[in-house]
Amino acid sequence: MELAVVILAAGQGTRMKSRLPKVLHPLAGRPLVTYAVETARALTDAEPVLVVGHGAEPVRETVGEGVTFVEQTEQLGTGHAVLQARAVLQGQTDLVLVTYADMPLLTVETLRRLVERQRENAGPITILTLISDDPHGFGRVIRDESGAVVQVVEEAVATPEQLAIRELNAGVYCFNADWLWTHIDCIPLSLPKGEYYLTDLIGMAVAEGLRVEAAATEDAEEALGINTRVHLAEAETALRRRINEHWMLAGVTIVDPQTTYIEPGVTIGRDTTIWPNTHLRGNTSIGKNCVIGPNSIIVDCRIGDGCQVLASVLEQAVMEDGSDIGPFGHLRKGARLCEGAHMGNFGEMKNATLGPGAKMGHFSYLGDADVGAGANIGAGTITCNFDGVRKHKTVIEAGAFIGSDTMLVAPVRVGKGAKTGAGAVVTHDVPDGALVYGVPARVRRQGSKGVGEQADK
Ligand code: UD1
Ligand code: CA
Repeated sequence: MELAVVILAAGQGTRMKSRLPKVLHPLAGRPLVTYAVETARALTDAEPVLVVGHGAEPVRETVGEGVTFVEQTEQLGTGHAVLQARAVLQGQTDLVLVTYADMPLLTVETLRRLVERQRENAGPITILTLISDDPHGFGRVIRDESGAVVQVVEEAVATPEQLAIRELNAGVYCFNADWLWTHIDCIPLSLPKGEYYLTDLIGMAVAEGLRVEAAATEDAEEALGINTRVHLAEAETALRRRINEHWMLAGVTIVDPQTTYIEPGVTIGRDTTIWPNTHLRGNTSIGKNCVIGPNSIIVDCRIGDGCQVLASVLEQAVMEDGSDIGPFGHLRKGARLCEGAHMGNFGEMKNATLGPGAKMGHFSYLGDADVGAGANIGAGTITCNFDGVRKHKTVIEAGAFIGSDTMLVAPVRVGKGAKTGAGAVVTHDVPDGALVYGVPARVRRQGSKGVGEQADK
């Protein structure tokens, strides 16, 4: 294979001041390390090699399959970290790209450019450099008169002259694999930190008369390394802007991108409008011509075309085309609004289906329930689905009319076109077309008085 990617993730991340390993802190809802892993996967079919150390176990668990883990038990520097990958990679590829797990904003395009540069380089190394006026913390790139890179000097040991250099070492390198693996264990120990610096390979190549190339970028955002929670928030802002711009350019109206939070796994159709303070998270898809928000949180949901969500919270739910919810609705796991279904304010559904065109306008709870097409659920209707031990199912057939404040004591079935009176407590199945009322609800017999129930609208 041509190219392998080594991702360094063994450092402690002390400055995060956290019990959670740095690379597991969430960025736009995903652990930091997953960004570097996904970028590596987009670059090459070779399995990425992740060097883990601090928090190795939780990092392994989070990242899971499809990555080769190597452990660096003692953090003796970036050079030492790459050395740990030699046993699994030597002789396997022509090129090796080294990146850091705490640089989530690097783009595939930039890394491809770096790899291309190295492919054309007769020498063994090409480094990614950043041209920036804000050099804080980065190693400085020293070039000779011919423009060849001769050294990277760490900020801590740089002279005032070197500190003035605006070309910085982003910390991403593409190596000729054979050269890397024969030199990686020759890096001298650097004092005072007692570390083996990967950057020392540059001086070693130059000493052998070999050329070190640089691919420069001016996009400081891409080179952002997360060391503190301040950096994490900066990355969050940058990523949010990238994601929102992507969707706007794809035909989505985002009224206020600053307060619209869309995670990377979300998809949105054209001519959908997203109002402020909306969070679209996890594995969510939203169709065309929808109006979402303001003030909505949607997690792992599938939403069809032409839907409306106003100030509502939806989790693991489905909204079919033309359905709507809100304000102040809550769809929980397994809730489904079928085509054209309407759920108004203060409703909650869990593991329940509101059939095509069915309506549930005001403060009701449907749990473990199936509601047929065109049924009307009156204000305050509750499915009493839990007997304290087990959950039971409620079925409301097509065209049924459930009077306001009906308690449906599950398991129970309301037949097609049947009606329940206001305040009914339904403990037995209701036959098709029947009217029940009272506590407990009884079928109204021919000739008896009306129940005077007024359910909806
Ligand atoms: C490094 C570069 C510096 C560059 C900067 C860019 C070196 C010597 N210096 O400095 O020139 O400007 O990155 O951000 O390489 N890691 C391990 N094992 C270790 C040490 C580090 O896996 O033993 C990992 C860390 O988890 C981190 C990455 O390597 O993801 C970088 O290490 P860090 O100590 O932050 O390097 P810098 O001092 O930032
Ligand atoms: Ca760093």
